[in-house]
Amino acid sequence: MYDNWEELKQSIVNCNKCKLCKNRTNIVFGTGNEQSDLMFIGEGPGADEDKEGIPFVGRAGKLMNMAFEGLALDRNSVYIANIVKCRPPANRNPEDDEAQACLDYLRNQVLLVKPKIIVLLGSVALKNILGKEYGITASRGTWIEKKGILYMPTWHPAALLRDDNKKIDFWCDLKKIIEKRNELEG
Ligand code: URA
Ligand code: SF4
Repeated sequence: MYDNWEELKQSIVNCNKCKLCKNRTNIVFGTGNEQSDLMFIGEGPGADEDKEGIPFVGRAGKLMNMAFEGLALDRNSVYIANIVKCRPPANRNPEDDEAQACLDYLRNQVLLVKPKIIVLLGSVALKNILGKEYGITASRGTWIEKKGILYMPTWHPAALLRDDNKKIDFWCDLKKIIEKRNELEG
């Protein structure tokens, strides 16, 4: 574990711990407020993220940005990262060995950010962070507390592109998150 961002970032730039290192253009480290009380965890980079080196800049990210704007949640005030830092080929889900190889970096990011609330975007984030026994359909929109951190699983923004009902759920979950954030700040 690293106690500073620069060393952590550098170790990822040079990482070849899993096979995803072979096809990446850029690693996608994470972005936003490095001391935020609120952190979002996605799955892994897509084509746009791989090109730019920033999480959630493609279609799903733009939809997420619109929801943030609609609820006056400043994207720069939160920290956003992914389970894997390198793009899985053809946007497939990260495989277990890849997620396991990469997870220490995310744990290190969580230790440095020290968020009070972590939003788990979709099944891959949920299962890798809280455990395989959790299902996204049953647990989304509910608070799960572990080791002093409040977790809220919700739909992955890419799932919203295909389903308007999920857009409504996502909106409601974000509202709950903002309320809780204000409550904890208060
Ligand atoms: N989907 C993710 O899970 N993460 C990104 O950064 C972009 C799309
Ligand atoms: Fe390393 Fe993670 Fe990239 Fe795999 S996905 S090569 S573990 S940084």
